[in-house]
Amino acid sequence: MHSIRSVLDDTTLTGTTVTVAGWVRTFRNDRFIALNDGSTVRNLQCVIDQEQVDEATRARLTTSAAVRCTGTIVESKGGGQRVEMQVSEVVVLGDSDGEKYPIQPKKHSLEFLRENAHLRFRTSTFSAVFRIRHQVSFGIHAYFDQHGYNYFHSPIITASDAEGAGEMFRVTALADTKGTDPAEDFFGRVTNLTVSGQLEAELAATALGKVYTFGPTFRAENSNTARHLAEFWMIEPEAAFMDIQGNMDLAEDLCKHLIARVLEKSMDDLQFLDGRLADEEKQKPQQQRSEMGLIDRLKFVLENPFERITYDQAIDILLRSKPYQKKQFQFPVEWGIDLQSEHERYLVEKHFNKPVIVTGYPAQIKAFYMRTNGPDDLGYSDKGPTVAAMDVLFPGIGEIIGGSQREERLDMLEARMAEMGVPTEQLWWYLDTRRFGTVPHAGFGLGLERFVQFVTGMGNIRDVIPFPRTPGNAEF
Ligand code: 4AD
Ligand code: MG
Repeated sequence: MHSIRSVLDDTTLTGTTVTVAGWVRTFRNDRFIALNDGSTVRNLQCVIDQEQVDEATRARLTTSAAVRCTGTIVESKGGGQRVEMQVSEVVVLGDSDGEKYPIQPKKHSLEFLRENAHLRFRTSTFSAVFRIRHQVSFGIHAYFDQHGYNYFHSPIITASDAEGAGEMFRVTALADTKGTDPAEDFFGRVTNLTVSGQLEAELAATALGKVYTFGPTFRAENSNTARHLAEFWMIEPEAAFMDIQGNMDLAEDLCKHLIARVLEKSMDDLQFLDGRLADEEKQKPQQQRSEMGLIDRLKFVLENPFERITYDQAIDILLRSKPYQKKQFQFPVEWGIDLQSEHERYLVEKHFNKPVIVTGYPAQIKAFYMRTNGPDDLGYSDKGPTVAAMDVLFPGIGEIIGGSQREERLDMLEARMAEMGVPTEQLWWYLDTRRFGTVPHAGFGLGLERFVQFVTGMGNIRDVIPFPRTPGNAEF
């Protein structure tokens, strides 16, 4: 059997007889099957000779039926495709009641398709998105493997809150936890689903040198936005002897490697999504439309260096910006605030018009493990204490990566933990890395879904993960 992709692309197959199998997208004029097998966004036109295929079989060629076709590959007479199949035999493998099938050959809204998430992979849009998600995932492994990083599996059940934000899902074996002592529970303590594998990755990095995690991550933050999921996938590289500069270089290089890979491997899917996005843009008022199409945007990001600025510079730019002067920002701007999505988008989309890496955030708004900046460090500020944090901001998305150089000095780390109310006793094992051969090290977390959103142009994060988990939503 051949994949439809190979039949469409491999010119040596013209004139030969092949077998393909897939699902009927449409069946027109009792003659033309548009067949798709998921190997490509493109359909194979299978032309039926009415004398060879009886009427009863033709009646079963409904949208979404599974069929196997054998026939000769010939140059196509119609426009739109290079070749088509002159069918000699068609076998219906799985019937489908075309009337009842929820996904009709017409444009459905993304909301409707989310309610039919079990079938949405059969649409061109979603099959393209998930093939690209595969390419990005595979590219991540390839990139880190090529660069000497070990794939490290951090635990999913954990007793620590790496981010200290308290947004965790409890894991328990008790039917009812009310009034029970956590000591009686399965692990003899309170446990949660991980919010980050970083702390464990740091242990591994101070032994293996370079590691990365790539796994599901859980956050019980009640934010119903187009960029938040309760279950998402995060990639967390961590490297010993790397500083904040090296961390920025790694983040930029990884993003570019992944974009280049998708441009190389998934051009037909990108072309489809580019067209889809262009249609969507046409619905918007002129001034809200983006100037570049999807593919142009990817090439632009690939070919231009990311802008690197400090938090101090970011605040200066925002204070001098038109929306600030005209009081158009919803949230206040002053040194010490956490940048809000509207601020990030101004910097990236209006001011620089390309990805931006911001370093040197105020210590009070960042996690306990980040390294405190001294006067000679990048991002040091005379306005208040800062840490060696870095956020990578992308057009249309905002924060796509969050990372930092870690505090490797035991006394400084303990002081910061005390300041932020992070219990040191529970993290004795983490602190041991600073006791026994501590070294400068750094890493970051890349949100897979946000990156896939950028590459596919999908506006809502729920449309780039197979089965989204969001507040009030865990169907399928
Ligand atoms: O900035 P965050 O919270 O950083 C960490 O968790 C660090 N421990 C990473 C590290 O240094 N090893 O999360 C990292 C990235 C964000 O930039 C974002 O892309 C993604 O993870 N992310 C989410 N994606 C979808 N839904 C959510 N609720 C997300 N929260 C974070
Ligand atoms: Mg962050």
